[in-house]
Amino acid sequence: MKRLIIVSMAVVLVCLTVPFSAFAQKVGGGDLTFTPKNAAPVVFSHEKHVNGQGLKCTGCHYQIFQMAQGSYKMDMNKITKGDFCGKCHNGQKGFDVKEPKNCVRCHR
Ligand code: HEC
Ligand code: HEC
Ligand code: HEC
Repeated sequence: MKRLIIVSMAVVLVCLTVPFSAFAQKVGGGDLTFTPKNAAPVVFSHEKHVNGQGLKCTGCHYQIFQMAQGSYKMDMNKITKGDFCGKCHNGQKGFDVKEPKNCVRCHR
């Protein structure tokens, strides 16, 4: 009986820790995928922008983006003109969205 209790406590412990550690590792809003109609999906990584580039949450929230996926209607035309991702991806702070070889860096 005692053994059964120990085993079930261990199981409960594992079940509790796994989701919590997964949660702790997620940076900001995590990995987000945008699915435009006539282009390959775009993956945005919070991890790579926040940890990788040292960008602060306030660098994007709330001036460029809200904290909810799909809160703004982005399109390539606005991005190319320097809105949304294009605020940085203009060849100065980040790779240029207008450069044909860069399309696949976002659209994967
Ligand atoms: C380089 C820009 C950028 C930075 C820096 C950034 N975010 Fe985001 N975040 C985004 C974008 C883009 C979205 C999606 C917005 C949309 O679709 O309207 C988003 C969405 C979110 C969401 C909603 C996710 C969902 O599933 O709806 C949360 C929460 C969030 N961010 C938290 C944070 C936190 C916390 C930080 C700082 C640790 C941070 N973000 C830093 C760009 C950024
Ligand atoms: C910095 C990332 C990024 C780069 C680089 C990029 N795009 Fe996009 N693109 C996006 C995002 C974000 C959307 C909007 C996704 C959505 O609908 O939510 C989008 C949408 C689109 C769409 C869908 C229709 C529209 O007008 O919105 C097309 C087509 C497109 N991009 C083509 C391109 C081409 C061609 C290139 C290279 C010259 C390119 N993109 C480079 C991020 C990027
Ligand atoms: C506040 C500035 C900023 C904004 C806004 C921003 N980025 Fe970036 N991003 C950067 C910088 C800086 C880098 C690293 C330099 C480089 O690779 O050119 C980067 C790198 C990337 C990379 C390469 C690393 C990776 O994740 O594979 C992708 C893809 C990317 N960004 C997509 C996006 C998309 C999509 C958006 C809009 C939803 C966006 N970024 C908005 C600054 C920004």
